[in-house]
Amino acid sequence: MNAESRTRLTRTPEWNALGKHREQLGQTHLRELFAADPARGAGYTLQVGDLYLDYSKHLVTDETLALLRELAAATGVAELRDAMFRGEKINTTEDRAVLHTALRAPRDAVIEVDGENVVPAVHAVLDKMSAFSDRIRSGEWTGHTGRPIKNVVNIGIGGSDLGPAMAYEVLRSFTDRALTVRFVSNVDGADLHEAVRDLDPAETLFIIASKTFTTIETITNATSARDWLLSGLGAGQEAVAKHFVALSTNSAKVSEFGIDTANMFEFWDWVGGRYSYDSAIGLSLMIAIGPDRFREMLDGFHLVDEHFRDAPPEGNAPLLLGLLGVWYGAFFDAQSHAVLPYSHYLSKFTAYLQQLDMESNGKSVDRDGNPVDWQTGPVVWGTPGTNGQHAYYQLIHQGTKVIPADFIGFAQPVADLAPGLVAQHDLLMANFFAQTQALAFGKTPEEVRAEGVAEELVPHKTFRGNHPTTTILAESLTPSVLGQLIALYEHKVFVQGAIWNIDSFDQWGVELGKVLAKKIEPVLTGDEPGEGLDSSTATLVEAYRGLRGR
Ligand code: F6P
Repeated sequence: MNAESRTRLTRTPEWNALGKHREQLGQTHLRELFAADPARGAGYTLQVGDLYLDYSKHLVTDETLALLRELAAATGVAELRDAMFRGEKINTTEDRAVLHTALRAPRDAVIEVDGENVVPAVHAVLDKMSAFSDRIRSGEWTGHTGRPIKNVVNIGIGGSDLGPAMAYEVLRSFTDRALTVRFVSNVDGADLHEAVRDLDPAETLFIIASKTFTTIETITNATSARDWLLSGLGAGQEAVAKHFVALSTNSAKVSEFGIDTANMFEFWDWVGGRYSYDSAIGLSLMIAIGPDRFREMLDGFHLVDEHFRDAPPEGNAPLLLGLLGVWYGAFFDAQSHAVLPYSHYLSKFTAYLQQLDMESNGKSVDRDGNPVDWQTGPVVWGTPGTNGQHAYYQLIHQGTKVIPADFIGFAQPVADLAPGLVAQHDLLMANFFAQTQALAFGKTPEEVRAEGVAEELVPHKTFRGNHPTTTILAESLTPSVLGQLIALYEHKVFVQGAIWNIDSFDQWGVELGKVLAKKIEPVLTGDEPGEGLDSSTATLVEAYRGLRGR
């Protein structure tokens, strides 16, 4: 597809056909779709690895799905996918390959970037991480005073924090409970303060995670952590080597910070920050769960990579999920997408997906720099059920907005819970199934009246229903299943970016705020006068300085 036609997504015949189809669908209710096809609940499903996907409660028919697949074909999703897997530089604004799939490729795979097979380097780093993790876990690696490491503090932000922090929570029941693992990201000093206040520096390892090793939040926190460590130990710079390691692509900056590059775990510019937790960025996770579990997780990722690459469009789960999102954004004006996991361990899952999805697809110009005239990425939000049910589900059920939602649940509880707590799992999952049922089918005024409800309350107690959901069910939340889930979402985001013709792999939108913060900081401290600020910011800065007594 050439540049001009790519910029005119909304004028393609496939888009127009979907628009007409949407008009025909009108107010068709899920109740009608289910009534017309008794096999819908079993038929509109997919099995990918351990993930069972039910998409029957979506506002689609066979025709909708066929038209959406035609849109994918017309916009070259498969071609771009294949180019990504081949290592082509599809991140055009940064002139980089996009090869997170190489991070979980088997040892004997061959994937080339600029003519060089990157797979041996990936496995060399994994092996180095494994050896290091084993030394920490066994107590063989000791700190400056000879004591084994009992605490691991990962300092990073964005993709250098959210992935390992999320996965550590998800896989908590697989972690070595003798280790304390914490994550510091916020430049608010309170974050580091709370993370280290009860730790013994002699037993603490800091992992400084930063792809660029220039991110101000991370370098500031790392510097403060180094001060805390050295003053706590009463030691000099020589203690750093035993208590600091770095995860980065930038060895020069790592050395400059004072970390020996022998203690650096490398990754590469073809790994985007938000796609990086299965690279060296996952070291804290690997220490917590052990190398074998980490590799099981990578195998889970790889399984879905292969599925995405090889499965035909009709049965391709990331393609389907991506297309459904495009459908609701474009033709139902859905502005957001809820991800609602029914697992306490997935408490940070949606926050992780926020960066994955919103940093990738929060764009308003196409790959050629032209403004788009179609919706791109949604606002992604959500927290674990059942808590959300008692907070914001009211709006999903009876509000005025279209909010497609993913429900993720597991047949088995994960941890070695007490029998009474195991029994609670059925109650959790009863809610899981009940919510998608209520959202889809609602409750008609007739049904409400039949319960003897007073007429004036009937509108209040009626549930319109027809709210679309995907259900993802797996037997249990293992490292492999986590890898499968993350890869599923990574590729879903990819599909949407491909259709919308945006670069899903850059993030220029975070730059301006960073630049301005650098300019404002010396004004706050009084080192600079603050000329040229707009009147709002100037007044706010003045007020701040007054409150700080400056
Ligand atoms: O927020 C911008 C960003 O560049 C993210 O994409 C990235 O994950 C994060 O900052 C951290 O960057 P780094 O790993 O280079 O410190």
